[in-house]
Amino acid sequence: MSTIADFNSASNAETDREHEVQISLLLALCGAAAENRDAASVAEILDQLIAYSEAHFMSEELLMRLKSYDDYEDHVDDHIHMLDVLREIAVGHAAGNSVLVAGRAAEVLVFIGNHIDARDRRFADYVRNNL
Ligand SMILES: [Fe+2]
Repeated sequence: MSTIADFNSASNAETDREHEVQISLLLALCGAAAENRDAASVAEILDQLIAYSEAHFMSEELLMRLKSYDDYEDHVDDHIHMLDVLREIAVGHAAGNSVLVAGRAAEVLVFIGNHIDARDRRFADYVRNNL
């Protein structure tokens, strides 16, 4: 029979897998932009990255609410910032400013890496300590 501990360790493992997918989509975007791939291919990766990030952030935010997490607001501010930047990149790309995609995607990659290492790790520790 599964326990709350099983649930939590499974949800952390699931979250780690989601971070891997998110990072790999971002790396794919950086690569496509750096190689000057056609606009439709770059747009498709951007759309996938935005949709995946929306779903991933929503599931993380639901778990934070469920756990009455004490850093909820600042953590969600990071998510909002990342989605704002990704949507700005997509709007700029659709308007023909594709030259900016590689640099801005690299900035998002650094931001997401710091977010996962700091805020997501803190939340994972919180979940483990508040079963
Ligand atoms: Fe997060």
